[in-house]
Amino acid sequence: MVPAARLPVPLAVRPPPPHGPRPIASLRPLLGSPCIYATLRPAAAPLVLTRRGAKEHATISADAPAKVIDGKLVAKQVREEIAVEVARMKDAIGVVPGLAVILVGSRKDSQTYVRNKKKACEAVGIQSFEANLPEDSSEEEVIKHIASFNSDPSVHGILVQLPLPRHMNDENILNAVGIEKDVDGFHPLNIGRLAMQGRDPFFVPCTPKGCMELLHRHGVEIKGKRAVVIGRSNIVGMPAALLLQKANATVSIVHSQTKNPEEITRQADIVIAAVGVANLVRGNWIKPGAAIIDVGINPVDDPESPRGYRLVGDVCYEEASKVAGAITPVPGGVGPMTIAMLLANTLESAKRIHNFK
Ligand code: GUN
Repeated sequence: MVPAARLPVPLAVRPPPPHGPRPIASLRPLLGSPCIYATLRPAAAPLVLTRRGAKEHATISADAPAKVIDGKLVAKQVREEIAVEVARMKDAIGVVPGLAVILVGSRKDSQTYVRNKKKACEAVGIQSFEANLPEDSSEEEVIKHIASFNSDPSVHGILVQLPLPRHMNDENILNAVGIEKDVDGFHPLNIGRLAMQGRDPFFVPCTPKGCMELLHRHGVEIKGKRAVVIGRSNIVGMPAALLLQKANATVSIVHSQTKNPEEITRQADIVIAAVGVANLVRGNWIKPGAAIIDVGINPVDDPESPRGYRLVGDVCYEEASKVAGAITPVPGGVGPMTIAMLLANTLESAKRIHNFK
């Protein structure tokens, strides 16, 4: 799962005023807000939208509650499809796709992600390889492991778990992964190809690929639509914007320096929020009928939860689901798709390397 890039955390968290619009000047986060402010004023304030605008999106009615885009279910379907293909390949040519994961250091969250990736591989019949290196490893040591996986024919995908320890230069490390095994799609050549007309990368980064898969499988039309991506991280926001553009959407990127994020977002038929700020996107940022993909996974205090916190997205679900046509929940939306897409990329890589159709 991919935590979205973080905006600077505000020193003070204030609830929005109960009446009138919120200031448009900045991406003001609502960290800690359980979105209860939605009940203080109408959730949707789509006053700037014309009836014509709403009608254009009649396939997704703004009057009904949003259709929930169930990422858990779609990810399960994808994993089942992959398992079938992995078995077919093994039967036909005796090749089992293999994924190598390199983890440097002992961050608990990274260890959990790596463990989940390994389990997901096992469940679909993909072989997994692991290199666990100490926090104080040198770049050279990490690159040596990458080189060994690059030349190992049973490895079809290589992933270096991020973030790396501070003393390491991400670029040096990611550059060392062979582009034909770069299942994360983070190699500059893969990203460059994603950005160019008429070129295709070997691999598309997993989380944005998962967002697109959710849109496709829910029949959301992209061609000619206006899309807004909130956040511009290398891992999610930037590649998501490139993918939407490749799919012929007209794309805007909203980021921490954007002057009027609400206004821009309100024009979007498709919103991908990947900024890592809890409940940033309110109901009145959303065009009625829009499709909303929420990549954020943010912990907020919740004394009623046994863990003392709960996870919320970058979008205030309670408000947005009353305005949007379709929306991903958090958790259970984009999260499960990331690993499913990693498995898909690994299978794709093995098929390409062995020219298996
Ligand atoms: N850390 C958080 N998300 C990711 C991801 O998608 N890939 C890798 N390699 N590291 C991550």
